[in-house]
Amino acid sequence: MTQLKPIVSHSHLDSIPSSAAGKFKADKSSSSTSTYIHRLRFNSSLQKLTLWSFLFLVAVLFFFLLSPPSPPPPRRKNLQSTTPWGGSDWERRVRSSARVRSKTGLSVLVTGAAGFVGTHVSIALKRRGDGVLGLDNFNTYYDVALKESRKSLLDRTGVFVVEGDINDGVLLRKLFDVVAFTHVMHLAAQAGVRYAMQNPNSYIHSNIAGFVSLLEVCKSVNPQPAIVWASSSSVYGLNSKVPFSEKDRTDHPASLYAATKKADEAIAHAYNYIHGLSITGLRFFTVYGPWGRPDMAYFFFTKDILEGKEISVFEGPNHGTVARDFTYIDDVVKGCLASLDTAKKSTGSGGKKKGAAQLRIFNLGNTKPVPVSKLLSILEKLLKVKAKRKVVSLPRNGDVQFTHANISLAYKELGYKPTTNLETGLKKFVKWYVGYYDPKKKSAW
Ligand SMILES: NC(=O)c1ccc[n+]([C@@H]2O[C@H](COP(=O)([O-])OP(=O)(O)OC[C@H]3O[C@@H](n4cnc5c(N)ncnc54)[C@H](O)[C@@H]3O)[C@@H](O)[C@H]2O)c1
Repeated sequence: MTQLKPIVSHSHLDSIPSSAAGKFKADKSSSSTSTYIHRLRFNSSLQKLTLWSFLFLVAVLFFFLLSPPSPPPPRRKNLQSTTPWGGSDWERRVRSSARVRSKTGLSVLVTGAAGFVGTHVSIALKRRGDGVLGLDNFNTYYDVALKESRKSLLDRTGVFVVEGDINDGVLLRKLFDVVAFTHVMHLAAQAGVRYAMQNPNSYIHSNIAGFVSLLEVCKSVNPQPAIVWASSSSVYGLNSKVPFSEKDRTDHPASLYAATKKADEAIAHAYNYIHGLSITGLRFFTVYGPWGRPDMAYFFFTKDILEGKEISVFEGPNHGTVARDFTYIDDVVKGCLASLDTAKKSTGSGGKKKGAAQLRIFNLGNTKPVPVSKLLSILEKLLKVKAKRKVVSLPRNGDVQFTHANISLAYKELGYKPTTNLETGLKKFVKWYVGYYDPKKKSAW
Protein backbone atom coordinates (compact mmCIF):
# COMPACT_ATOMS: atom_id res chain seq x y z
CA MET A 1 0.00 0.00 0.00
CA THR A 2 2.82 2.41 0.75
CA GLN A 3 3.95 1.94 -2.85
CA LEU A 4 0.75 3.66 -3.95
CA LYS A 5 1.56 6.86 -2.11
CA PRO A 6 3.76 8.36 -4.83
CA ILE A 7 0.90 7.91 -7.33
CA VAL A 8 -1.44 9.85 -5.06
CA SER A 9 1.04 12.69 -4.53
CA HIS A 10 1.85 12.60 -8.24
CA SER A 11 -1.76 13.25 -9.26
CA HIS A 12 -2.05 15.87 -6.55
CA LEU A 13 1.02 17.66 -7.89
CA ASP A 14 -0.38 17.43 -11.39
CA SER A 15 -3.02 19.96 -10.45
CA ILE A 16 -0.43 22.62 -9.60
CA PRO A 17 0.91 23.44 -13.10
CA SER A 18 -2.50 23.80 -14.71
CA SER A 19 -3.76 26.21 -12.08
CA ALA A 20 -0.46 28.15 -12.14
CA ALA A 21 -0.55 28.38 -15.92
CA GLY A 22 -4.12 29.55 -15.84
CA LYS A 23 -3.22 32.25 -13.37
CA PHE A 24 -0.32 33.36 -15.53
CA LYS A 25 -2.52 33.78 -18.61
CA ALA A 26 -4.93 36.02 -16.67
CA ASP A 27 -2.09 38.11 -15.24
CA LYS A 28 -0.50 38.50 -18.65
CA SER A 29 -3.64 39.97 -20.20
CA SER A 30 -3.97 42.59 -17.44
CA SER A 31 -0.28 43.60 -17.42
CA SER A 32 0.92 46.80 -19.13
CA THR A 33 4.76 46.52 -18.92
CA SER A 34 6.87 44.06 -20.90
CA THR A 35 9.32 43.73 -17.94
CA TYR A 36 6.53 42.52 -15.82
CA ILE A 37 5.46 40.06 -18.52
CA HIS A 38 9.03 38.90 -18.94
CA ARG A 39 9.40 38.38 -15.21
CA LEU A 40 6.13 36.55 -15.14
CA ARG A 41 7.25 34.36 -18.05
CA PHE A 42 10.55 33.72 -16.29
CA ASN A 43 8.79 32.86 -13.06
CA SER A 44 6.40 30.61 -14.91
CA SER A 45 9.27 28.81 -16.73
CA LEU A 46 11.01 28.41 -13.42
CA GLN A 47 7.84 27.02 -11.91
CA LYS A 48 7.43 24.66 -14.87
CA LEU A 49 11.06 23.58 -14.65
CA THR A 50 10.80 23.01 -10.91
CA LEU A 51 7.58 21.17 -11.42
CA TRP A 52 8.94 18.89 -14.16
CA SER A 53 12.09 18.23 -12.09
CA PHE A 54 9.86 17.40 -9.18
CA LEU A 55 7.69 15.11 -11.30
CA PHE A 56 10.80 13.41 -12.64
CA LEU A 57 12.06 12.83 -9.10
CA VAL A 58 8.67 11.46 -8.06
CA ALA A 59 8.71 9.13 -11.09
CA VAL A 60 12.22 7.88 -10.22
CA LEU A 61 11.21 7.40 -6.60
CA PHE A 62 8.06 5.62 -7.70
CA PHE A 63 10.09 3.29 -9.92
CA PHE A 64 12.41 2.36 -7.06
CA LEU A 65 9.56 1.87 -4.64
CA LEU A 66 7.84 -0.42 -7.10
CA SER A 67 10.92 -2.55 -7.66
CA PRO A 68 12.84 -2.66 -4.40
CA PRO A 69 15.92 -4.86 -4.67
CA SER A 70 14.85 -7.92 -2.65
CA PRO A 71 17.90 -10.10 -2.16
CA PRO A 72 17.89 -13.87 -1.86
CA PRO A 73 17.99 -15.13 1.74
CA PRO A 74 21.40 -14.16 3.08
CA ARG A 75 24.08 -16.77 3.18
CA ARG A 76 26.39 -17.51 6.02
CA LYS A 77 29.26 -15.83 4.21
CA ASN A 78 29.70 -13.88 1.04
CA LEU A 79 30.11 -17.02 -1.02
CA GLN A 80 30.40 -15.37 -4.43
CA SER A 81 33.68 -13.77 -3.49
CA THR A 82 35.09 -15.83 -0.66
CA THR A 83 34.04 -19.43 -1.30
CA PRO A 84 36.98 -21.45 -0.10
CA TRP A 85 36.85 -23.91 -2.98
CA GLY A 86 39.75 -25.05 -5.11
CA GLY A 87 43.18 -26.44 -4.29
CA SER A 88 44.49 -29.97 -4.36
CA ASP A 89 43.06 -30.97 -0.99
CA TRP A 90 39.61 -29.72 -1.99
CA GLU A 91 39.80 -31.57 -5.34
CA ARG A 92 40.85 -34.75 -3.57
CA ARG A 93 37.78 -34.49 -1.29
CA VAL A 94 35.51 -33.85 -4.28
CA ARG A 95 36.91 -36.88 -6.16
CA SER A 96 36.75 -39.15 -3.16
CA SER A 97 33.13 -38.23 -2.37
CA ALA A 98 32.07 -38.74 -6.01
CA ARG A 99 33.95 -42.03 -6.46
CA VAL A 100 31.65 -44.85 -7.56
CA ARG A 101 31.99 -47.93 -5.34
CA SER A 102 29.62 -50.37 -6.98
CA LYS A 103 29.84 -51.96 -10.43
CA THR A 104 26.69 -50.33 -11.79
CA GLY A 105 26.96 -47.19 -9.69
CA LEU A 106 26.24 -43.65 -10.82
CA SER A 107 28.23 -40.54 -10.19
CA VAL A 108 25.75 -37.93 -8.96
CA LEU A 109 25.99 -34.23 -8.22
CA VAL A 110 23.25 -33.47 -5.68
CA THR A 111 22.32 -29.79 -5.46
CA GLY A 112 20.55 -28.68 -2.28
CA ALA A 113 22.29 -31.57 -0.50
CA ALA A 114 22.12 -29.92 2.94
CA GLY A 115 18.36 -29.56 2.49
CA PHE A 116 15.74 -32.00 3.73
CA VAL A 117 15.24 -34.15 0.61
CA GLY A 118 18.84 -33.64 -0.55
CA THR A 119 20.27 -35.13 2.64
CA HIS A 120 18.10 -38.25 2.45
CA VAL A 121 18.71 -38.79 -1.28
CA SER A 122 22.48 -38.31 -0.88
CA ILE A 123 22.67 -40.83 1.96
CA ALA A 124 20.58 -43.39 0.07
CA LEU A 125 22.77 -43.07 -3.04
CA LYS A 126 25.99 -43.29 -1.05
CA ARG A 127 24.78 -46.36 0.84
CA ARG A 128 24.18 -48.33 -2.34
CA GLY A 129 27.63 -47.52 -3.73
CA ASP A 130 27.01 -44.51 -5.96
CA GLY A 131 29.43 -41.60 -6.01
CA VAL A 132 27.83 -38.49 -4.51
CA LEU A 133 28.95 -34.91 -4.27
CA GLY A 134 26.73 -32.34 -2.55
CA LEU A 135 26.37 -28.64 -3.31
CA ASP A 136 24.45 -26.18 -1.13
CA ASN A 137 24.58 -22.46 -0.42
CA PHE A 138 23.44 -22.82 3.21
CA ASN A 139 21.13 -19.82 2.96
CA THR A 140 19.28 -18.62 6.03
CA TYR A 141 15.70 -19.19 4.79
CA TYR A 142 15.44 -21.50 7.80
CA ASP A 143 17.70 -22.51 10.68
CA VAL A 144 21.23 -22.91 9.27
CA ALA A 145 22.22 -25.01 12.31
CA LEU A 146 19.86 -27.71 11.02
CA LYS A 147 21.54 -27.61 7.59
CA GLU A 148 24.94 -27.82 9.33
CA SER A 149 23.78 -30.86 11.31
CA ARG A 150 22.63 -32.53 8.10
CA LYS A 151 26.04 -31.72 6.59
CA SER A 152 27.77 -33.41 9.54
CA LEU A 153 25.55 -36.44 9.02
CA LEU A 154 26.54 -36.47 5.33
CA ASP A 155 30.23 -36.09 6.23
CA ARG A 156 29.95 -39.17 8.43
CA THR A 157 28.36 -41.07 5.51
CA GLY A 158 31.20 -40.05 3.19
CA VAL A 159 29.39 -37.31 1.27
CA PHE A 160 31.25 -34.03 0.91
CA VAL A 161 29.01 -30.97 0.58
CA VAL A 162 30.63 -28.09 -1.28
CA GLU A 163 29.43 -24.71 -0.09
CA GLY A 164 28.39 -22.72 -3.14
CA ASP A 165 25.54 -21.34 -5.19
CA ILE A 166 24.09 -22.93 -8.32
CA ASN A 167 24.32 -19.47 -9.90
CA ASP A 168 28.10 -19.72 -9.66
CA GLY A 169 28.85 -21.09 -13.14
CA VAL A 170 32.61 -21.05 -12.56
CA LEU A 171 32.25 -23.33 -9.56
CA LEU A 172 29.86 -25.66 -11.42
CA ARG A 173 32.28 -25.96 -14.34
CA LYS A 174 35.11 -26.67 -11.93
CA LEU A 175 33.10 -29.48 -10.34
CA PHE A 176 32.51 -31.02 -13.77
CA ASP A 177 36.22 -30.59 -14.58
CA VAL A 178 37.12 -32.61 -11.51
CA VAL A 179 34.35 -35.24 -11.85
CA ALA A 180 32.52 -36.39 -15.00
CA PHE A 181 29.15 -36.68 -13.28
CA THR A 182 26.80 -39.09 -15.04
CA HIS A 183 23.74 -37.62 -13.27
CA VAL A 184 22.61 -34.45 -11.55
CA MET A 185 19.95 -34.68 -8.85
CA HIS A 186 18.82 -31.07 -8.69
CA LEU A 187 17.05 -30.27 -5.42
CA ALA A 188 18.40 -26.78 -4.64
CA ALA A 189 15.56 -24.28 -4.67
CA GLN A 190 13.81 -21.58 -2.74
CA ALA A 191 11.04 -23.68 -1.24
CA GLY A 192 7.86 -22.65 0.63
CA VAL A 193 4.92 -20.72 -0.79
CA ARG A 194 4.40 -17.98 1.83
CA TYR A 195 7.93 -16.58 1.91
CA ALA A 196 7.36 -15.19 -1.61
CA MET A 197 5.29 -12.40 -0.04
CA GLN A 198 8.46 -11.27 1.79
CA ASN A 199 11.23 -12.11 -0.64
CA PRO A 200 10.02 -12.77 -4.18
CA ASN A 201 13.48 -12.32 -5.66
CA SER A 202 14.87 -15.33 -3.80
CA TYR A 203 12.55 -17.51 -5.94
CA ILE A 204 13.84 -15.93 -9.13
CA HIS A 205 17.44 -16.23 -7.94
CA SER A 206 17.39 -19.92 -7.03
CA ASN A 207 14.49 -21.40 -9.00
CA ILE A 208 14.80 -19.57 -12.30
CA ALA A 209 18.30 -18.06 -12.67
CA GLY A 210 19.89 -20.91 -10.70
CA PHE A 211 18.16 -23.59 -12.78
CA VAL A 212 19.26 -21.95 -16.04
CA SER A 213 22.82 -21.57 -14.72
CA LEU A 214 22.91 -25.30 -13.91
CA LEU A 215 21.42 -26.33 -17.27
CA GLU A 216 23.88 -24.09 -19.12
CA VAL A 217 26.78 -25.96 -17.56
CA CYS A 218 25.12 -29.38 -18.03
CA LYS A 219 24.49 -28.71 -21.72
CA SER A 220 28.09 -27.67 -22.39
CA VAL A 221 30.02 -30.40 -20.59
CA ASN A 222 31.03 -33.57 -22.34
CA PRO A 223 29.53 -36.04 -21.65
CA GLN A 224 26.33 -34.28 -20.68
CA PRO A 225 24.78 -35.68 -17.49
CA ALA A 226 21.16 -36.84 -17.21
CA ILE A 227 19.19 -34.53 -14.93
CA VAL A 228 16.50 -35.38 -12.40
CA TRP A 229 15.02 -32.35 -10.65
CA ALA A 230 12.32 -31.42 -8.17
CA SER A 231 9.25 -29.69 -9.49
CA SER A 232 6.24 -29.53 -7.19
CA SER A 233 2.60 -30.49 -6.77
CA SER A 234 2.00 -26.74 -6.44
CA VAL A 235 2.03 -26.50 -10.27
CA TYR A 236 -1.54 -27.88 -10.15
CA GLY A 237 -2.46 -24.62 -8.41
CA LEU A 238 -6.18 -23.95 -8.34
CA ASN A 239 -7.18 -27.06 -10.31
CA SER A 240 -10.31 -28.67 -8.86
CA LYS A 241 -10.22 -32.03 -10.69
CA VAL A 242 -8.71 -34.69 -8.43
CA PRO A 243 -6.56 -36.67 -8.24
CA PHE A 244 -4.00 -34.48 -10.02
CA SER A 245 -2.63 -36.19 -13.11
CA GLU A 246 0.48 -35.27 -15.11
CA LYS A 247 -1.85 -34.76 -18.09
CA ASP A 248 -3.83 -32.01 -16.31
CA ARG A 249 -3.28 -28.37 -17.15
CA THR A 250 -0.94 -26.45 -14.88
CA ASP A 251 -1.64 -22.85 -15.74
CA HIS A 252 -3.37 -21.62 -12.58
CA PRO A 253 -0.50 -21.19 -10.09
CA ALA A 254 -1.58 -19.85 -6.70
CA SER A 255 1.88 -18.66 -5.64
CA LEU A 256 5.09 -17.28 -7.08
CA TYR A 257 6.78 -20.49 -5.93
CA ALA A 258 4.37 -22.53 -8.07
CA ALA A 259 4.88 -20.14 -10.98
CA THR A 260 8.66 -20.62 -10.82
CA LYS A 261 8.31 -24.42 -10.79
CA LYS A 262 5.94 -24.22 -13.74
CA ALA A 263 8.48 -21.99 -15.50
CA ASP A 264 11.19 -24.55 -14.72
CA GLU A 265 9.15 -27.25 -16.45
CA ALA A 266 9.02 -25.07 -19.56
CA ILE A 267 12.75 -24.27 -19.28
CA ALA A 268 13.50 -28.01 -18.95
CA HIS A 269 11.52 -28.62 -22.15
CA ALA A 270 13.56 -26.02 -24.02
CA TYR A 271 16.94 -27.41 -22.89
CA ASN A 272 15.82 -30.93 -23.71
CA TYR A 273 14.59 -29.86 -27.14
CA ILE A 274 17.56 -27.70 -28.12
CA HIS A 275 20.51 -29.33 -26.39
CA GLY A 276 19.50 -32.97 -26.05
CA LEU A 277 19.60 -33.01 -22.24
CA SER A 278 17.82 -35.96 -20.66
CA ILE A 279 15.56 -34.38 -18.03
CA THR A 280 13.11 -35.87 -15.53
CA GLY A 281 10.95 -33.59 -13.37
CA LEU A 282 9.40 -34.89 -10.15
CA ARG A 283 6.31 -33.22 -8.71
CA PHE A 284 6.69 -33.86 -4.98
CA PHE A 285 3.59 -33.79 -2.77
CA THR A 286 4.16 -32.40 0.79
CA VAL A 287 7.18 -34.47 1.77
CA TYR A 288 7.66 -35.01 5.51
CA GLY A 289 9.90 -36.96 7.86
CA PRO A 290 13.01 -36.85 10.08
CA TRP A 291 15.44 -34.00 9.35
CA GLY A 292 12.48 -32.17 7.79
CA ARG A 293 11.88 -28.52 7.04
CA PRO A 294 10.95 -26.20 9.93
CA ASP A 295 8.72 -24.06 7.70
CA MET A 296 6.30 -26.95 7.07
CA ALA A 297 3.10 -27.46 9.09
CA TYR A 298 3.88 -30.90 10.55
CA PHE A 299 7.21 -29.51 11.84
CA PHE A 300 6.04 -26.23 13.38
CA PHE A 301 2.82 -27.82 14.71
CA THR A 302 5.05 -30.22 16.67
CA LYS A 303 7.16 -27.34 17.97
CA ASP A 304 4.14 -25.21 18.87
CA ILE A 305 2.26 -28.07 20.57
CA LEU A 306 5.30 -28.76 22.77
CA GLU A 307 5.69 -25.05 23.55
CA GLY A 308 1.98 -24.68 24.39
CA LYS A 309 1.42 -22.14 21.61
CA GLU A 310 -1.86 -21.60 19.78
CA ILE A 311 -2.11 -23.40 16.43
CA SER A 312 -3.98 -21.96 13.48
CA VAL A 313 -5.82 -24.68 11.57
CA PHE A 314 -6.88 -23.44 8.16
CA GLU A 315 -10.28 -24.12 6.66
CA GLY A 316 -11.47 -23.41 3.12
CA PRO A 317 -14.55 -21.43 2.05
CA ASN A 318 -17.85 -22.72 3.59
CA HIS A 319 -15.85 -24.55 6.29
CA GLY A 320 -14.20 -26.67 3.57
CA THR A 321 -11.50 -29.12 4.58
CA VAL A 322 -7.88 -28.27 3.88
CA ALA A 323 -6.07 -31.51 3.05
CA ARG A 324 -2.63 -32.58 1.88
CA ASP A 325 -1.29 -35.70 0.19
CA PHE A 326 1.49 -36.12 2.79
CA THR A 327 4.30 -38.25 1.38
CA TYR A 328 6.92 -39.87 3.60
CA ILE A 329 10.52 -39.07 2.79
CA ASP A 330 11.65 -42.70 2.31
CA ASP A 331 8.97 -43.18 -0.37
CA VAL A 332 10.08 -40.00 -2.16
CA VAL A 333 13.72 -41.11 -1.98
CA LYS A 334 12.78 -44.39 -3.67
CA GLY A 335 11.08 -42.40 -6.44
CA CYS A 336 14.18 -40.20 -6.86
CA LEU A 337 16.54 -43.18 -7.09
CA ALA A 338 14.24 -44.99 -9.53
CA SER A 339 14.18 -41.85 -11.68
CA LEU A 340 17.99 -41.68 -11.72
CA ASP A 341 18.23 -45.41 -12.52
CA THR A 342 15.78 -45.21 -15.42
CA ALA A 343 17.08 -41.91 -16.84
CA LYS A 344 18.45 -42.35 -20.34
CA LYS A 345 21.66 -40.67 -21.42
CA SER A 346 21.62 -37.12 -22.74
CA THR A 347 22.23 -37.03 -26.47
CA GLY A 348 24.10 -33.77 -26.96
CA SER A 349 27.74 -32.87 -26.98
CA GLY A 350 29.44 -29.51 -27.23
CA GLY A 351 26.06 -27.90 -26.52
CA LYS A 352 24.46 -29.46 -29.64
CA LYS A 353 21.92 -32.24 -29.64
CA LYS A 354 22.56 -35.38 -31.64
CA GLY A 355 19.07 -36.82 -31.35
CA ALA A 356 15.87 -36.69 -29.34
CA ALA A 357 16.46 -37.01 -25.60
CA GLN A 358 14.27 -38.30 -22.80
CA LEU A 359 11.89 -35.80 -21.17
CA ARG A 360 9.68 -37.00 -18.31
CA ILE A 361 7.48 -35.63 -15.55
CA PHE A 362 6.10 -37.68 -12.64
CA ASN A 363 3.90 -37.13 -9.62
CA LEU A 364 5.51 -38.45 -6.44
CA GLY A 365 2.71 -38.40 -3.89
CA ASN A 366 1.06 -40.79 -1.48
CA THR A 367 -2.35 -40.63 -3.16
CA LYS A 368 -4.14 -40.56 0.24
CA PRO A 369 -4.93 -36.94 1.18
CA VAL A 370 -5.37 -36.29 4.91
CA PRO A 371 -7.12 -33.23 6.43
CA VAL A 372 -4.71 -30.94 8.24
CA SER A 373 -6.93 -31.23 11.36
CA LYS A 374 -6.25 -35.00 11.31
CA LEU A 375 -2.51 -34.32 11.06
CA LEU A 376 -2.84 -32.27 14.23
CA SER A 377 -4.81 -35.02 16.01
CA ILE A 378 -2.11 -37.59 15.19
CA LEU A 379 0.58 -35.26 16.52
CA GLU A 380 -1.43 -34.64 19.73
CA LYS A 381 -1.65 -38.39 20.24
CA LEU A 382 2.04 -38.96 19.60
CA LEU A 383 3.19 -36.04 21.75
CA LYS A 384 0.56 -36.74 24.44
CA VAL A 385 -0.25 -33.03 24.56
CA LYS A 386 -3.53 -31.33 23.62
CA ALA A 387 -3.05 -28.60 21.01
CA LYS A 388 -4.56 -25.14 21.44
CA ARG A 389 -6.45 -25.03 18.14
CA LYS A 390 -7.76 -21.93 16.44
CA VAL A 391 -9.69 -22.40 13.19
CA VAL A 392 -8.96 -19.62 10.68
CA SER A 393 -9.80 -19.07 7.01
CA LEU A 394 -7.17 -20.14 4.54
CA PRO A 395 -5.35 -16.92 3.64
CA ARG A 396 -4.74 -16.14 0.00
CA ASN A 397 -0.98 -16.12 0.23
CA GLY A 398 -0.08 -19.19 -1.80
CA ASP A 399 -1.60 -22.21 -0.07
CA VAL A 400 -4.14 -24.24 -2.01
CA GLN A 401 -7.06 -26.06 -0.35
CA PHE A 402 -6.03 -29.61 -1.18
CA THR A 403 -3.53 -31.76 -3.04
CA HIS A 404 -4.03 -35.31 -4.23
CA ALA A 405 -1.69 -37.20 -6.54
CA ASN A 406 -2.50 -39.69 -9.24
CA ILE A 407 0.66 -41.82 -9.16
CA SER A 408 -0.17 -44.41 -11.81
CA LEU A 409 2.43 -43.09 -14.27
CA ALA A 410 5.24 -43.21 -11.67
CA TYR A 411 4.10 -46.71 -10.71
CA LYS A 412 4.18 -47.85 -14.34
CA GLU A 413 7.49 -46.26 -15.33
CA LEU A 414 9.42 -46.23 -12.05
CA GLY A 415 7.76 -48.97 -9.99
CA TYR A 416 6.97 -46.20 -7.49
CA LYS A 417 4.71 -47.46 -4.72
CA PRO A 418 4.56 -45.50 -1.44
CA THR A 419 4.21 -47.70 1.62
CA THR A 420 4.22 -45.37 4.64
CA ASN A 421 0.97 -44.02 6.07
CA LEU A 422 0.83 -40.71 7.92
CA GLU A 423 0.64 -42.24 11.44
CA THR A 424 3.74 -44.36 10.87
CA GLY A 425 5.67 -41.56 9.17
CA LEU A 426 4.83 -38.99 11.83
CA LYS A 427 5.88 -41.39 14.58
CA LYS A 428 9.33 -41.54 12.97
CA PHE A 429 9.39 -37.78 12.59
CA VAL A 430 8.40 -37.13 16.22
CA LYS A 431 11.00 -39.60 17.45
CA TRP A 432 13.66 -37.76 15.47
CA TYR A 433 12.36 -34.33 16.55
CA VAL A 434 12.48 -35.14 20.25
CA GLY A 435 15.90 -36.77 19.93
CA TYR A 436 17.28 -33.82 17.98
CA TYR A 437 15.85 -30.94 19.99
CA ASP A 438 15.44 -32.54 23.42
CA PRO A 439 17.79 -35.52 23.66
CA LYS A 440 17.00 -35.95 27.40
CA LYS A 441 13.46 -37.02 26.48
CA LYS A 442 14.66 -39.36 23.73
CA SER A 443 14.48 -42.45 25.94
CA ALA A 444 10.70 -41.93 26.29
CA TRP A 445 10.37 -42.73 22.60
N1 LIG B 1 9.62 -30.85 0.87
C1 LIG B 1 8.50 -30.78 0.12
O1 LIG B 1 7.40 -31.04 0.59
C2 LIG B 1 8.59 -30.38 -1.34
C3 LIG B 1 7.41 -30.39 -2.09
C4 LIG B 1 7.47 -30.03 -3.43
C5 LIG B 1 8.68 -29.70 -4.01
N2 LIG B 1 9.82 -29.69 -3.26
C6 LIG B 1 11.08 -29.34 -3.91
O2 LIG B 1 12.04 -30.31 -3.56
C7 LIG B 1 13.33 -29.72 -3.47
C8 LIG B 1 13.94 -30.01 -2.11
O3 LIG B 1 13.08 -29.47 -1.12
P1 LIG B 1 13.41 -29.54 0.43
O4 LIG B 1 12.14 -29.73 1.13
O5 LIG B 1 14.53 -30.46 0.68
O6 LIG B 1 13.87 -28.02 0.67
P2 LIG B 1 15.12 -27.47 1.48
O7 LIG B 1 14.91 -25.99 1.56
O8 LIG B 1 15.28 -28.20 2.75
O9 LIG B 1 16.34 -27.79 0.53
C9 LIG B 1 16.79 -26.95 -0.50
C10 LIG B 1 18.27 -26.70 -0.28
O10 LIG B 1 18.74 -25.94 -1.39
C11 LIG B 1 19.64 -24.97 -0.90
N3 LIG B 1 19.63 -23.88 -1.89
C12 LIG B 1 18.63 -23.00 -2.11
N4 LIG B 1 18.98 -22.14 -3.08
C13 LIG B 1 20.23 -22.51 -3.49
C14 LIG B 1 21.14 -21.99 -4.44
N5 LIG B 1 20.83 -20.92 -5.17
N6 LIG B 1 22.34 -22.60 -4.60
C15 LIG B 1 22.67 -23.67 -3.84
N7 LIG B 1 21.85 -24.19 -2.89
C16 LIG B 1 20.65 -23.61 -2.73
C17 LIG B 1 19.13 -24.57 0.46
O11 LIG B 1 20.15 -24.08 1.28
C18 LIG B 1 18.56 -25.87 0.97
O12 LIG B 1 19.50 -26.55 1.80
C19 LIG B 1 13.13 -28.24 -3.77
O13 LIG B 1 13.34 -28.03 -5.14
C20 LIG B 1 11.66 -28.02 -3.46
O14 LIG B 1 11.13 -26.94 -4.17
C21 LIG B 1 9.79 -30.02 -1.93
